[in-house]
Amino acid sequence: MATIVQEPKTASDLRHHKLAQWVEEVAQLTQPEHVRWCDGSPAEYDEMLRLMVQAGTAIPMNAEKRPHSIFVRSTPADVARVEDRTFICSRSQEDAGPTNNWRGPAEMKVALNKLLSGCMAGRTLYVIPYSMGPIGSPIANIGVELTDSPYVVANMHIMARVGTKVLEVLGQDGEFVKGLHSVGLPLGPSDQDSPWPNNPTEKYICHFPETREIVSFGSGYGGNALLGKKCHALRIASVQARDEGWMAEHMLILKLISPEGQVKYITGAFPSACGKTNLAMLIPTVPGWKVQTVGDDIAWMKFGPDGRLYAINPEAGFFGVAPGTSMKSNANAMLSVTRNSIFTNCALTPDGDVWWEGMTDTKPAELSDWLRRPWTPACGHKAAHPNARFTAPARQCPVIAPEWEDPKGVPIDAMLFGGRRANIVPLVTEAFDWQHGTFLGSTASSETTAAAAGKVGQLRRDPMAMLPFCGYHMGDYFAHYLKIGSRPGAKLPKIFYVNWFRQDDKGGFLWPGYGENSRVLKWVFERCNGTSHAVDTPIGRLPQPGDLDVRGLDISAANLAKLLSVDVDGWLAEVPLIREHFARFGSHLPQGLRDEVDRLEQRLKAAKK
Ligand code: GTP
Ligand code: SPV
Ligand code: MN
Repeated sequence: MATIVQEPKTASDLRHHKLAQWVEEVAQLTQPEHVRWCDGSPAEYDEMLRLMVQAGTAIPMNAEKRPHSIFVRSTPADVARVEDRTFICSRSQEDAGPTNNWRGPAEMKVALNKLLSGCMAGRTLYVIPYSMGPIGSPIANIGVELTDSPYVVANMHIMARVGTKVLEVLGQDGEFVKGLHSVGLPLGPSDQDSPWPNNPTEKYICHFPETREIVSFGSGYGGNALLGKKCHALRIASVQARDEGWMAEHMLILKLISPEGQVKYITGAFPSACGKTNLAMLIPTVPGWKVQTVGDDIAWMKFGPDGRLYAINPEAGFFGVAPGTSMKSNANAMLSVTRNSIFTNCALTPDGDVWWEGMTDTKPAELSDWLRRPWTPACGHKAAHPNARFTAPARQCPVIAPEWEDPKGVPIDAMLFGGRRANIVPLVTEAFDWQHGTFLGSTASSETTAAAAGKVGQLRRDPMAMLPFCGYHMGDYFAHYLKIGSRPGAKLPKIFYVNWFRQDDKGGFLWPGYGENSRVLKWVFERCNGTSHAVDTPIGRLPQPGDLDVRGLDISAANLAKLLSVDVDGWLAEVPLIREHFARFGSHLPQGLRDEVDRLEQRLKAAKK
């Protein structure tokens, strides 16, 4: 029997019979040496850091360079989300749809229970009660993660609101999402622990949407292991949102302030490692305009009494892509990670600081790379893994919006969809209406990135940036979007499609991106007010080159024209590909989207005449 090293702090949580019983059952199954209820205190966080340092998982960073921060390295077999090992275990396979891996819940539980049996031997089972969203917000949702990883505990301290205060809200019979996580490497009495414990052969990231459960086995990295994030706040929450009439989206939330002080809130859904964190905290190059951050990865949106969609950021921290982040590209991210941060799979400088590709113009003369090897610029490989990440408290962001934790959320004026497309897709397109916007989002495609294990740079459809995160049938998800749009009295955001990644013949970016994206945001803002101009084209409403504020921007007229042009032949060639993509969803594809492809084709054919 496991010894309980720390009991819950309040009397009320032990009276949550179902929670206590579940912890007991999991302890019986997984056989940890200790059980510890996390209280969420700073002392607990520090203890996790100490444990990681002791185990060789982490190195404390130079306190003068990065106070209260640690440097962590995983193993090459565990560096990103594993989409091919991610399962939606709904009762019916039909409900998981064609884009998810499926196993029946009973069958999967049998397989998991075999792996879970005794899997925490020699380790501590941590009980982490967490709130996704400000504690007590009507949009927030509670979960409990059981894990055997101190790395997960420390990261959850930053990424969510955790500990006793959550148990107090949960009370005696509150509902919560059950998440069970194990690195899947039991320790015998004489075993030496690995610096990055994980299971080298078995990985399973499983979701049971009907019973609101998650079981994750074998990986300790990011979205595989921090169960509040993708598993709960997207895969399980998307199902809750469908059932209850709200939205759980892979979206940043930003606040855009005009020189006159007028405010608009904008969300943006771009696939993993396609620019959400960067856009969420950008420094506008257009004079007088300001951006503040509400969230950088996930948005939960519910209708308010006024018919508008109100969004909260369910997270409390950033788990951001490190490579490419610099004082030039994203100063606010750099300033967010100056202290109290965790760096995973970056490189270590001789003076105990962190480095990654793109951080500085000149590379350091020597480093210890993410594989724990000595590194020099001449050695021919990257010092940081392309999916190296920082974990930092959102409150440390210099431009965090004062209302970022407002329990009501912020009213959304515009939603952006986008992806990495080297050609065809213009810089920005405004949808004709909500249904057309849903169509634009549903056809989004993007090149794959290092955020998921597998090949990088493969073009694939990633509808609403939710391909890896939708917990149910993608066709039903599209129908849910249309249902949201037809709600009586709804005052819906305008929808736009953006592409920062258009390339020239030599593979260079046509658009400078980053802070310069504020020029597009300004146009979006003014479209919401009805004060900027657009032309109707077969694919949607586009600014003409004169409609975008490009004062002070060094861009050739030819490039700007190319970014804002509609390649009719190129789009006609896309139509059958869109039909092929839609065919996957069979009878689940809503008629409204079928109509939109037909209309797109008609408009393109008319334009050719
Ligand atoms: P996840 O955390 O994986 O969901 O990713 P994210 O969408 O927050 O991506 P992030 O903002 O971290 O950007 C990832 C990569 O895109 C980095 O390498 C950035 O340098 C690059 N990037 C971001 N914005 C732009 C842009 O406007 N133009 C170009 N060319 N690259 C960009
Ligand atoms: C993503 O891949 O979209 C991320 C990182 O935001 S992870 O949390 O690992 O999923
Ligand atoms: Mn993400």
